[in-house]
Amino acid sequence: MCTFVLFFIFLNSATAVIYRLNDSAYAHMPPLFHLDNYEECFDDPEGVYCTLELNLVSEEPNPLLNMIQEYSEHQSTHFNHTILNQGICIKQTCKEFYKADVDLRLTLEACLNESLYNKYKLKARVSNGFDCSKREKHPPIDYVGLSVAIICLIILMLNLIGSLSDYYLKERKFPGVFRFVYCFSIFRNWEKLVASPDKCRDDRLLALKGLHGIRAINIMLVITCHSVATGELLSVNPHYIEELYTYSIVHVILNGTLIMQTFFIVSSFLLVYNWMIRSEKHEPSWKLLPMQIIRRWLRLTPSYAVILALTATWFGRIASGPYWERYVSREMVDCRQDWWKHLLYISNYYDGSNCMPQAWYLAADTQLYYMGVIIFLLSRSGLSRKIMLSLIFIVGIILPALHTYYQNLDGILMITPQMALTFFVNNPTFDNTYKRGHTNMTGCIIGMAIGYMLYNWQQTGGDPKKFQKYRYIYWCLFPLCGLCCYSGSVFFWDQPPLPRYVHVLYALLLKPIFSIIMGVIIAGVIVRFEGLYRTILEWRAWTLLSRLSFCAYLMHIAIIRNIIAMQTTTQRSTIPGVLLQCAKIQLGSFIFAFFLWMLVETPFANLIQAIFSKTETTAQNDNEKDSTKAEDEKRPSKTDVSVNIVVLTKM
Ligand SMILES: *[C@@H]1O[C@H](CO)[C@@H](O)[C@H](O)[C@H]1NC(C)=O
Ligand SMILES: *[C@@H]1O[C@H](CO)[C@@H](O)[C@H](O)[C@H]1NC(C)=O
Ligand SMILES: *[C@@H]1O[C@H](CO)[C@@H](O)[C@H](O)[C@H]1NC(C)=O
Repeated sequence: MCTFVLFFIFLNSATAVIYRLNDSAYAHMPPLFHLDNYEECFDDPEGVYCTLELNLVSEEPNPLLNMIQEYSEHQSTHFNHTILNQGICIKQTCKEFYKADVDLRLTLEACLNESLYNKYKLKARVSNGFDCSKREKHPPIDYVGLSVAIICLIILMLNLIGSLSDYYLKERKFPGVFRFVYCFSIFRNWEKLVASPDKCRDDRLLALKGLHGIRAINIMLVITCHSVATGELLSVNPHYIEELYTYSIVHVILNGTLIMQTFFIVSSFLLVYNWMIRSEKHEPSWKLLPMQIIRRWLRLTPSYAVILALTATWFGRIASGPYWERYVSREMVDCRQDWWKHLLYISNYYDGSNCMPQAWYLAADTQLYYMGVIIFLLSRSGLSRKIMLSLIFIVGIILPALHTYYQNLDGILMITPQMALTFFVNNPTFDNTYKRGHTNMTGCIIGMAIGYMLYNWQQTGGDPKKFQKYRYIYWCLFPLCGLCCYSGSVFFWDQPPLPRYVHVLYALLLKPIFSIIMGVIIAGVIVRFEGLYRTILEWRAWTLLSRLSFCAYLMHIAIIRNIIAMQTTTQRSTIPGVLLQCAKIQLGSFIFAFFLWMLVETPFANLIQAIFSKTETTAQNDNEKDSTKAEDEKRPSKTDVSVNIVVLTKM
C-alpha cells in the first residue's frame, strides 16, 4: 500500500505545478476575459462581433507559456489560463485582416496571432465553438414558438375565465364537467398559497410542518450557489476568485452539492410515511402502481413542460449580448432536440446536453420515487423491509464507488473555476455519479427507513419527551453536516492530485454519512422534541417559499443564463457584488415562480386532484356523497393539506 501511494505521489510530482503567483507575475499572463466594446461595434450597421475561445500556443520554447501551463495545471482552484475568452469586434480590431470573402476563423486567428505575438510572443488557435454575429441574433419566430405562445395564451385565458366565473358566480354552481374552470381561479389558488399548514386533522401530518423550512432553505442555498457563476464569468480580476478558493469557508460551499441529498431523503420519507398512513384505510396493492406513476407524472409535468417549452423558444429572445450564443442559444437548440428525454424523466441518463441541466434532479427523483413505490409494495412485513432496505443501501453505497474507480472520476463533484463556466456539461463526475438515479439511492433508502421507523414509533405511542436529553447532541448535527461538506476541502489544497483510493473512499462514504446525519435531523424535526431547530424551521414564511420552491428551481437557471447573456462588458468580481447578484436572482426566481405556481402548477394540480379523487370516491362507499355539499366550505382546508403533501413529495 505504501509503495503504491509513494508511486502515485512520485508520478504526480513529475509535472511541475505552480500553486501560487504573486500579483506582478500574474499580470504577465494575458487576461482571461476580454471584450471589445459591444455597442460601439454595432454603430456600423454591418458590424460583426465574434465571441471565441482561443488556446495559447507557441512554436518556439516560451517561458511565459510554460508558466501559464504550470499554473493552470492546478485545475481544482485555478482557471485554465491557456484558454482565453475574447469578444472581438472584427471590423475594428482586425481591420487589416478583414476581407469579406475570407474565412472568419482564419481572419480572427491571423489577427490574434499578430496581437498576441507582439505583446507576449505567443500565438493563438481559435477553438471550434466560435460565434460571429451581427446585431440581430434572434432567429425568426417559427411555428414552434407560435404554438408555445398559443398554449400559454390558452392557459392564461383559462385562468381568466376561472377567476371571473369564480368571482361573479360564486353562489351558483356550474353543472358537472364545467366545474373544472374553478381549478383555474386565482382567488382560490391564492388562498392555497397562503393557507396555514395548521389546518389539518391528523397530528401526524401536522408534524410535517418543519419540512417546509428544510425545503425552502435548501432551495435558496441551491439558487445562491448557482448564481455565483454570474460573478465568475467575464471577471477582470480572476486572481481574486482563485484566491477565494484558498479559504476554508469557501470549501464548505464548494462541496455544498451534498445538500441535494436532502431532497431525496425528504421525498422518499414522505412517500413511505404517507402511504403507511393511507394504508390504514386502504390496503396498498399493485394496482396502485400504474395509477401512482401516472399521477406523479401528471403532477410534475405541467409546469416543467411550460418552462421547457419557453426555454426552447421565448426565453431565448430576452437577452442578446456577446454570450447569448454560448449560454442561451445552445440551450434552446438542445431543448428542441431533447425535450422528450425531459418529459420521460430520463434526461439524467443522457450526457452532453445544455438543456435545463438542473432538471437532472427531477429525473433522478422520479426514478427513485418509482423504485421506492416498488420497494414499498414488495416488502410488507417488518423483516422483509429490513433485509430489502439494507441490501439496496449497500448496493447504493458501492455503485458510486465502482463508477469512481473504473471511470477514474473525482470523489466529489468539484466546482472548479473552469467548470463553473460550463455549467458542468461534459464533466465526467457530474455525468456518471452525480446526476444518475442509481448513484443516489442511499439518500432515498435512508428516507424510506426513517419513514417506517417514525410511523412505527408513533403507532406504538412514542413519547417525544424521552429524547429531550439528547437535544445537545441533536444541535451538533447541523454543524456536523457543514463538516461533511468541509471534508471535501482536501481536493482543493495546494498539493498534487490525490491518489485514486482517496477519491473512491469519498465516493463511497461521504454521501451516505451526510444522508444519515441529515436523516436524523429530519426525523428530529418531525418528532418535535426540541425547540431550537423546530422554531426556526416551522416559521410561517417558509411554508410560502416552500410551496414556490419547485417553480423557483425550474426557473432560476433560465434567469442566470439570461443575466449572463445580457452582459456586454467585463466586470470586477467582489464578494458584496456577487452577494447582491445572488439576492437579485433569488428574488427574480421567486417572483417568476409565484406566477408559474398561480397560473400553471396549482390549476393543473387541482384538476388532477379533482379527477383522481372522483375516481377514488366512486370506488369507495357512496354514503359520504350527501355530506360533500355541507363539507364544501371545509373542504379546501382538507384538500390543501393533501396537495401540500403531494407538492412536498415532488421535491
Ligand atoms: C513575484 O514572483 C517572482 C517569481 O515568481 C519574483 O521574481 C518577483 O520578485 C515577485 N515579486 C514580488 C513583488 O514579490
Ligand atoms: C487547458 O486547456 C487546454 C486547451 O483546451 C488543454 O489542452 C489543457 O489540458 C488544459 N489544462 C488543464 C490543466 O486542464
Ligand atoms: C496562428 O498561429 C498558430 C500557431 O503558430 C498557427 O497554427 C496558425 O496557423 C496561425 N494562424 C494563422 C491564420 O496564421
